[in-house]
Amino acid sequence: MVRPSDKACTAVVGLQWGDEGKGKVVDLLAAEHDAVVRYNGGANAGHSLVVNGERFAVHLVPSGILYNGKLSVIGNGVVVDAGKLIEEIDGLRERGISCEGLVVSDRAHVVMPYHKAEDALREELLKEAAEVHSGALERAGNLGEIGTTRRGIGPAYADKARRATAVRMGDMLRPDVLREKIGLACRINNALFRELTGEADRFDAAELTDQVRAHGERLADSIEDTTYLLNDRVADGGRLLFEGANATLLDVDHGTYPFVTSSSTTALGIGPGTGVPETHLGRVLGVVKAYQTRVGAGPMPTELFDGVADRIRDRGREFGTTTGRPRRCGWLDAVATRYSAMINGTTGICLMLLDVLAGFDELKVCVGHRYAAGVTDRFRPDSSDLAVAEPVYETLPGFGDEITEARSWDDLPENARGYVEFVERAVGVPVDFVSVGPDRAQTIRRSQHAGVAS
Ligand code: GDP
Ligand code: IMO
Ligand code: MG
Repeated sequence: MVRPSDKACTAVVGLQWGDEGKGKVVDLLAAEHDAVVRYNGGANAGHSLVVNGERFAVHLVPSGILYNGKLSVIGNGVVVDAGKLIEEIDGLRERGISCEGLVVSDRAHVVMPYHKAEDALREELLKEAAEVHSGALERAGNLGEIGTTRRGIGPAYADKARRATAVRMGDMLRPDVLREKIGLACRINNALFRELTGEADRFDAAELTDQVRAHGERLADSIEDTTYLLNDRVADGGRLLFEGANATLLDVDHGTYPFVTSSSTTALGIGPGTGVPETHLGRVLGVVKAYQTRVGAGPMPTELFDGVADRIRDRGREFGTTTGRPRRCGWLDAVATRYSAMINGTTGICLMLLDVLAGFDELKVCVGHRYAAGVTDRFRPDSSDLAVAEPVYETLPGFGDEITEARSWDDLPENARGYVEFVERAVGVPVDFVSVGPDRAQTIRRSQHAGVAS
């Protein structure tokens, strides 16, 4: 019997706008779990892993994959670009990573070429619309390019909600179903493109059906019912590690809408995205960068445009793993982070990239948002509200020395420890891990908090 008190599972989620270093944390913790499970998003995610100086980037494959043979599950809540997944598997195999433990839910949805085309087309239309309005609406947070990764994420989730023509991984092995669904989807998408761009017959149903079948045949051995697989593991006493993609402020319900992605990115998305109930979750680790970044459009109250931003971008290598775009940079927003910590039921924080802040004379942390009505420590996720929030800062002394060689709490300079403790108080959640470099080894585990043997 599994009792609800068997809380053996862990969630790793981003508490900002993505790229907090979730991949590194998942890679690190995968060693003490029996499976790593993705539950949301798709190839819009880019998670970097560095082991012994060797760098890997994964987009769809769970970040536990570097432990050869480890069960790595792509859950039903993920939208899978099958061509990209195959490319990623091949790339990892070439580098000696077997991918043998990789399993994909038969209920995960397939990102189709027309989803990617629609994603790009909508972005173009939004850009044009914003230009017509001289950018005024965009500044108010209502219209304008979202700045998506153009990986087809929004249209794929929209099709999932629309149901009939959506293709799931299990359908890839059912040629008749595939032919019917793709046939109708192509009719609809061809009409859409003809109307909006004048282009005729952009999508060829027979060609796409063949392509999807070929991808299905290649992945066939990895496609199965992951809901039973995962729940059986839990029943056998296994520990699952759930890997959030994208991050809390990009959540479709709780993020800075409409400048968000299209999935449930928080720990709240684990149940629907895997079929494993939250009663099995014992730990929720919130991954937080020591400062703030964002790629794509949308408000970011602490964004900087000066030398501080350039220095952070440079030292933190703040360029997107998926699109290569420079990330917008600024001081840590503790108002936003405390909100995200609440939404996820966060039990501990992993404070990442602290090394990037070395060498500043002083460091700032945003502790309030100022609106016309006054200063508040409550986060207003709606983009129209957030667009006019002004940050209220506390200033802390900086730490001069590089800290990339620190391996224990006591190795950190006093002011670095002071910064970590300030964040802890401002967010209201203990910092369990401090990261001082991209490598697996460049991590300080504060064992009094972390709750697991090192
Ligand atoms: P994710 O999407 O949350 O997994 O994060 P990304 O991998 O997109 O971006 C985080 C970047 O920071 C990657 O290039 C990591 O290798 C790197 N990184 C992670 N932790 C640290 C750290 O503590 N210090 C530094 N300098 N880089 C880090
Ligand atoms: P990881 O998992 C950073 C952002 C995009 C865009 C918005 C919508 O690496 O942290 P989408 O393509 O999802 O429709 O784009 O969301 N975005 C991310 N930004 N890291 C990510 O993932 C992101 N996934 C989506 O830049 O602003
Ligand atoms: Mg990333």
